Amino acid sequence: MSLVDLFLRLDRAGPGDAESLRWALGVAGTRADARILDAGCGTGADTGMLLAAAPQGRVMALDAAPDFVALVASKYPAVSARQGDMAAPPRGPWDLIWSAGAVYNLGIGRALDAWRGVLAPGGRVAFSDLCWAGPARPQAVTDFFAAEGVAMRDAAALEAEVAAAGWRVLGARWIGRAGWARYYDPLEVALAGERDADLVAAFRAEIALWKRWGESYDYRLLVVEPA
Ligand SMILES: C[S@@+](CC[C@H](N)C(=O)[O-])C[C@H]1O[C@@H](n2cnc3c(N)ncnc32)[C@H](O)[C@@H]1O
Repeated sequence: MSLVDLFLRLDRAGPGDAESLRWALGVAGTRADARILDAGCGTGADTGMLLAAAPQGRVMALDAAPDFVALVASKYPAVSARQGDMAAPPRGPWDLIWSAGAVYNLGIGRALDAWRGVLAPGGRVAFSDLCWAGPARPQAVTDFFAAEGVAMRDAAALEAEVAAAGWRVLGARWIGRAGWARYYDPLEVALAGERDADLVAAFRAEIALWKRWGESYDYRLLVVEPA
């Protein structure tokens, strides 16, 4: 079974939860008539809540993976689900671009540059990304994520990347352990029925890393706007 097949059985493909999304919607001032782009929607972890937050607005869910897009379209008929590259987003304009755990694929500067031109006046971006969460810097964590192509940095460095791209931070918080458990608990269950030994080993190693060193890193959730 492929990675996509595994995730098609899960409703989250990264850390996050309803509570932190609600917080972001509040900081962003998302209104009932908001036009929202869920960039890198995966299997629609947050798409339903975004829809509920904007009953008089509209939600588009965008992902590079066609199977995820098809799943989201079937789960949420009211959403416009589209296969595509969030580096070249649909024109909008969007009052909110929400991107949970997907920005690392582009990098902060490239994502924010790509999104600036499709935001409505007063529009905001909310995204989550991996950071050191405390003073400990376990080498095992650095090495694990480096092998995935992700360089660890702290929350101040992340905010510096946002500022360097010409954006201002309106609010920032951690996703926290509940959001990781919301991702990893169902993933662990799904791995029990998975036959691809390499895939199982890779995810078990990631989950074991979090159980051992998870106090040292977290997803930082930021709400930002053009400066
Ligand atoms: C870690 S998953 C997070 C998915 C979802 N937001 C969640 O929290 O469960 C990252 C998602 O980004 C998508 N993705 C990666 N690069 C992309 C790109 N350039 N354009 C659109 N989607 C992309 C992947 O297919 C994947 O579904």
